[in-house]
Amino acid sequence: MNRERIISPSILAADFNILGEQIQEVKRSGAKYLHIDVMDGMFVPSISFGMPVISSIRKQTDLFFDVHLMIMEPIRYVEEFARIGADMVTFHLEAARGLVDETIERIHKAGCRAGISIKPATPAEELLPWLEKVEMILIMTVEPGFGGQKYIPFSTEKIRQTRQLLTAHGLDTDIEVDGGITADNIGVVTEAGANVIVAGSSVFGGNIAENVRRLLGQHQ
Ligand code: DX5
Ligand code: ZN
Repeated sequence: MNRERIISPSILAADFNILGEQIQEVKRSGAKYLHIDVMDGMFVPSISFGMPVISSIRKQTDLFFDVHLMIMEPIRYVEEFARIGADMVTFHLEAARGLVDETIERIHKAGCRAGISIKPATPAEELLPWLEKVEMILIMTVEPGFGGQKYIPFSTEKIRQTRQLLTAHGLDTDIEVDGGITADNIGVVTEAGANVIVAGSSVFGGNIAENVRRLLGQHQ
């Protein structure tokens, strides 16, 4: 099946001195999403940025805010992320303990699309109970926590399995991949069934517009 390829540049790799300008460049490049990594220093070792940064950039752009929560007990902050402008709130299955259904419900109630994410060590089958309840599945293709890592090769099989699980349930849900995606391996992940592609270093390293166009397959 031919799905539209959506690029979601991860601002974790941006130059925060000129974040606003770089977001404008992302918009001009043809990318539709902006990937926003929130890390709490508990679920992952790093702390990234939080509400003040997101509400500030929200004033300046209408890009789709694809918020990736790498935080423990994400349910605590769902309404706040919705209020400051998240369009999609994606949380980690591993961080939501026994509250996965409730977390999804709260995200929907707050008016956002819901995404659920799994780390490299979590099998795709663990997503089964929630396949029909979310708008997107995020397969981490590196260990979450840092940008600039290398794509983990066994992720390709996991993307394929996830796409098969969805198809077997009659679903055409978006599959997002995150970590180590470049112009060299984007074809592999899209062929396996991913259609929303997070890219940090491969967008913000160098010319943003050119990099996005290359990822979109618009020029070599
Ligand atoms: C990692 C983050 C990613 C990261 C991707 O925990 O979730 O979004 O920014 O960066 P690259 O594309 O450089 O691997
Ligand atoms: Zn991310």
